[in-house]
Amino acid sequence: MSRIAYVNGRYVRRADAAVNIEDRGYQFADGVYEVCEVRGGRLVDERGHMQRLQRSLHELRIEIPMSLAALGAVLRETVRRNRIGDGIVYLQITRGVSRRDHPFPAKPVPPAIVVTASRLDVAKSEAMAAEGVAVITLPDNRWDRVDIKSIALLPNILAKQAAREQGAREAWFVDEDGRVTEGSSSNAWIVTRDGKVVTRQADYAILKGITRGVVLEAMKAQGLELEERPFTVDEAYQAREAFLTSASQTVMPVVRIDGKPIGNGAPGLVASALRRDFYRFAELS
Ligand code: PDD
Repeated sequence: MSRIAYVNGRYVRRADAAVNIEDRGYQFADGVYEVCEVRGGRLVDERGHMQRLQRSLHELRIEIPMSLAALGAVLRETVRRNRIGDGIVYLQITRGVSRRDHPFPAKPVPPAIVVTASRLDVAKSEAMAAEGVAVITLPDNRWDRVDIKSIALLPNILAKQAAREQGAREAWFVDEDGRVTEGSSSNAWIVTRDGKVVTRQADYAILKGITRGVVLEAMKAQGLELEERPFTVDEAYQAREAFLTSASQTVMPVVRIDGKPIGNGAPGLVASALRRDFYRFAELS
């Protein structure tokens, strides 16, 4: 079966899918995206992802090309046509196609939309969660509006590549004061020795993860104590446990930071319980 992508109003074979060379996303990274998990063929937290998409578009003054309900229908149809059970659906919207020039097009052009869907190997992800993953830390060299889910991701991909080259799964960005902001494609969390769960407050320094929001709900139900504040790299080294969250990984235990074992070097109880309970608090549609 050939894979299908949605490109500007049409479902096309992925192998034949193409965008215009003057797409501002291609030339300037002038666009936004969302990644939504698919579980049992259903979208996980569509509402949260759509709200964040709307906010990202608004911040960049890109017109929303169709209603959120219509976009949701396109996501679902792309999932259906690709027969995705467990996986992700990717949505990208750019400012559109226009002769290369930095300012917004003088005559408005329609935004360009691409949607793709891919399978994820759940068994592999579970095996990874059972072992836990390693992260490295790196200076945060991104711009000061990372709360916008922009497709401009050069610092993120360089950080992720550095992590891979050091045998780690993720890189945690660190601000000028030595405090962790977030991962290159995930939010960062620790559990202190006295059992408090710490994650950075969602201001301009991090992307406000949809998974993060669900985990906060799950934490409340489990009676866990939360501190929404920055934590330092040293605090992370000393933590009882650490984990990361993202749409494609839900809750992933972190067992090593910069080569140092965290806690007893195995996935922690809090991270494991939050991972186990995640779908009880997520919205499937
Ligand atoms: N990444 N922070 C950054 C920088 C991210 O790129 C992501 C998501 C998150 C977590 O957000 P959420 O829980 O809504 O997925 C935090 C997606 C999955 C990606 O780029 O593939």
